[in-house]
Amino acid sequence: MVMFKVARVETTPYNDQKPGTSGLRKKVKVFKQPNYLHNFVQSSFNALTTAKVRGATLVVSGDGRYFSKDAIQIIIKMAAANGVRRIWVGQNGLLSTPAVSAVIRERVGSDGSKASGSFILTASHNPGGPNEDFGIKYNMENGGPAPEGITDKIFENTKTIKEYLIAEDLPDVDISAVGITSFTGPEGQFDVDVFDSASDYVKLMKSIFDFQSIQKLLSSPKFTFCYDALHGVAGAYAKRIFVEELGAQESSLLNCVPKEDFGGGHPDPNLTYAKELVARMGLGKSSCQDEPPEFGAAADGDADRNMVLGKRFFVTPSDSVAIIAANAVQAIPYFSGGLKGVARSMPTSAALDVVAKHLNLKFFEVPTGWKFFGNLMDAGLCSVCGEESFGTGSDHIREKDGIWAVLAWLSIIAYKNKDNLSSNKLVTVEDIVRQHWATYGRHYYTRYDYENVDAGAAKELMAYLVKLQSDLTEVNKIVKGIRSDVSNVANADEFEYKDPVDGSISKHQGIRYLFKDGSRLVFRLSGTGSEGATIRLYIEQYEKDSSKIGRDSQDALAPLVEVALKLSKMEEFTGRSAPTVIT
Ligand code: G6P
Ligand code: ZN
Repeated sequence: MVMFKVARVETTPYNDQKPGTSGLRKKVKVFKQPNYLHNFVQSSFNALTTAKVRGATLVVSGDGRYFSKDAIQIIIKMAAANGVRRIWVGQNGLLSTPAVSAVIRERVGSDGSKASGSFILTASHNPGGPNEDFGIKYNMENGGPAPEGITDKIFENTKTIKEYLIAEDLPDVDISAVGITSFTGPEGQFDVDVFDSASDYVKLMKSIFDFQSIQKLLSSPKFTFCYDALHGVAGAYAKRIFVEELGAQESSLLNCVPKEDFGGGHPDPNLTYAKELVARMGLGKSSCQDEPPEFGAAADGDADRNMVLGKRFFVTPSDSVAIIAANAVQAIPYFSGGLKGVARSMPTSAALDVVAKHLNLKFFEVPTGWKFFGNLMDAGLCSVCGEESFGTGSDHIREKDGIWAVLAWLSIIAYKNKDNLSSNKLVTVEDIVRQHWATYGRHYYTRYDYENVDAGAAKELMAYLVKLQSDLTEVNKIVKGIRSDVSNVANADEFEYKDPVDGSISKHQGIRYLFKDGSRLVFRLSGTGSEGATIRLYIEQYEKDSSKIGRDSQDALAPLVEVALKLSKMEEFTGRSAPTVIT
């Protein structure tokens, strides 16, 4: 067995290592500065209790983006030096974020070991490559992101760090081959266990869904399917699950080979960035000539996000979670005993609220960030949750789950078609959504993103909107001056959340203008960008009248959009006459 020594290396702090909503995300060039990654990793070890480091089992993997392979070797050497007993690595360093969560919760090592945490190497939906983004975040033993108490501690540590520990003489481990490599250090044995990236996750999915009914749907000639991994890590799971387990044709997979730079694309599953899929589904300007598939879906770089499309039809993420919640008990065996509760993030539309009310379910509205759902799930209060930002999931793990969402939709389609698969008629994605609107009403919804805006200007805009809120009469005067056909603003506030489980309070979670007719305008600053500031504007309008639920959403929302842009003086503050992305 190769022996290694522990070196203590002097270092000096960086002042910009504050983790955001989902870990530390920076340009690769920033991460490549001397000791930059080392400082963050040591600060993380120092923020954890001794029991979570010494003798512990940790997972280290990610979406395979550029710099991951170097980072994995560095983290292995630092873990060894810090007294970690075992490191688990997905083959080639690949594990989707949901798979990491599943591995922490479910995997048992050949010696009976269980993982107590993980470094996940991803910048999620941000592009990858030498000039793009890298990221690292820490997940806890429940499989969910570290709570703020820990991330704050990590940040404090990064500001005072003086040294880190590393096993410099530990040879690089071959992470392309499955197997265990053992070493000996001052405190005894240290193992690196490289394992198949998909099998634990596949096993979990098979325990949740009825694979047989999905297989039947996929083999029906009238159902056609398409999945785009945008060259992210979802590709490693798509082939195993959709093709090998469920019998989809290999040609239904688009961009399913994981690449370090995501093929030069922006691995974010929305109508702007998932161009190829959008065209194939018959949406957008450059749509294909061929008959589009009945169902299409995409994932982001680390496969926790999803976009669901029908033939020439877009399902908003806010509708998606509402529809999954409304059908889960009937269509998905995991939920057959009933839902414990449902939850959405504040800017997500109220479509889920209506379902919760109808089905008499516990309901929660939390700030943006998946960790808030995790607390509810750990306390047994929530089964299904989702966010407008293309995140949907359940309490099977503590991350959102892109492939789970697709399997949930396939299950619902299979369920709706269970009696007529042999006939010619298919209940389509669009049928399912329209039926849902007819039952529950429709929440017209759109989001405008202003990316990479000057950070100072963004703050000023937000401060202006907060100040405006103090005088609703004045607000309504301005609103009516812009459009007399919109309803009155009944209330305006900054969203604040008291966690019902741990009592913690999160302030300044977005500015809301709530209209009398149930419409909403929400403004918030993104917590996940890596440069400048991103302003998000969420616009929503509820329509119960079934004769008015079939409109084009941008048309239906045009008056509210106009109000939002003028009320916030968007162009004046940001210099932008149009958003970067509309979803
Ligand atoms: C990540 C988080 C989500 C969050 C999303 C958008 O994906 O896991 O919980 O909704 O980012 O965050 P942002 O702050 O950029 O709007
Ligand atoms: Zn992601």
